[in-house]
Amino acid sequence: MIAPLDPADPAFARDPYPYYAHLRGQGPAVRVPLANGTHAWLVTGYEATRAVLADPRFSNVPPQGAGRPKGDSRDSPAQRARACLARHMLNTDAPDHTRLRRLTTAAFAPRRVDALRARIEELTAGLLREMELRLRRDGSVDLVDAFAFPLPVLVIGEVLGVPEADRADLRAWTYRVGSPADALEPGAVDEAWTGLHAYFTELIARKRRAPGSDLFSALTQDALPRDPAESGGGLDDGELLAMAFLLLFAGYETTMNLLASASLLLLTHPGELAAAHRDPARWPAVVEETLRHASPLEGTTWRHTTEEVDIGDGVVIPAGASVLAVLAAANRDPRHFPDPDAFRPGRYLAGAGDTRTAPHAAFGHGPHFCLGSRLARLEATIALPRLLAAFPGLRLTADPAQLPYRPGLLVRGPRRVPVTTAPLP
Ligand code: HEM
Repeated sequence: MIAPLDPADPAFARDPYPYYAHLRGQGPAVRVPLANGTHAWLVTGYEATRAVLADPRFSNVPPQGAGRPKGDSRDSPAQRARACLARHMLNTDAPDHTRLRRLTTAAFAPRRVDALRARIEELTAGLLREMELRLRRDGSVDLVDAFAFPLPVLVIGEVLGVPEADRADLRAWTYRVGSPADALEPGAVDEAWTGLHAYFTELIARKRRAPGSDLFSALTQDALPRDPAESGGGLDDGELLAMAFLLLFAGYETTMNLLASASLLLLTHPGELAAAHRDPARWPAVVEETLRHASPLEGTTWRHTTEEVDIGDGVVIPAGASVLAVLAAANRDPRHFPDPDAFRPGRYLAGAGDTRTAPHAAFGHGPHFCLGSRLARLEATIALPRLLAAFPGLRLTADPAQLPYRPGLLVRGPRRVPVTTAPLP
């Protein structure tokens, strides 16, 4: 008997792992009743997750349902903006996806990503200075608000080549679009969508006229008018717009959760924090273990079966089913991660790690494997050591077991990580 799943339940959002462990025991995929009265297939084992993500019978193209904005003149400006985002590459299958992926992979070449190192260091230092001022003034800050949220947004600003003067707008729109509507004034979320849409449209035109050295300019330079019959060609206007939205949302929410969860884990595991301070070679292992233990993308985007699929162990998923590969659950599968619920960065230490531990699946698997994994790792390995070394005696001011988490099955991370520090000199 499977209990109905309510992704909005605060207790589930905080600790979904016992529920997932129960599902994992039932088979490679389980049809779960959702609190809204519908059903979905959840995949929670490591092997089954990787198999689903590499199998073209699980399509990324969302079914055309009623209520979806069409992206035409009958929609409001905010609906049109949301419809643009819906065209992104995560919502496509081969051959469309293959073409988009080929063009974007070139823009995200390792040398381009690595060239961001100095800017990420500067941005980190700037935010730490602001945080110090706030700590002096207020005595405590929320690490999410002061650091984990703004840093990834500023870094995406670099990726998109958003001029410094426009960064405050980007930050404010992103904050509103990512916040629950009831926390804001009515209309603020729609206004933010419309603002982002207009801004990105103008940005694309500007980059086409005068490309910069940013990653996004590399995408616009390829943007030639495309003959739909051709499989080659560059990104068209709509695809570029969708790409800008995707980079913002895929890049900031995930990295924000990684930074917030890693800080929280280290503040609650002082031995691991001290070990990383003593031996900086441990930081990449801290990042990998956080990605596994507190996977920032709890589930992938939804997949839809194009035909009936026999997934093994006598489980058959019918055609047309909605399927979620739960990365957070796959990364706690005891068949691949000894003592899976423990936070033990040592298992990923280069050369000395636990060889029974599998590579985690936090960046997905198969054709849609995260395009920004190198950037996310770079950002986290720069930001975390600096953040945690900057303030003496940094400590939580709330019970970690009671912190609120973001609801839903897609992203996972604490909403707030309130901290204080020893008196600053
Ligand atoms: C796709 C995780 C950061 C850009 C994905 C997927 C995962 C993932 C699991 C595959 C989703 C699926 O199969 O449905 C993460 C995590 C991050 C992170 C955990 C940080 C900790 C970033 C950053 C960027 C980025 C910084 C870019 C700036 C993308 C893009 C895709 C993607 C463009 C779509 C790839 C495709 O459809 O081929 N990410 N991501 N991600 N990610 Fe990330």
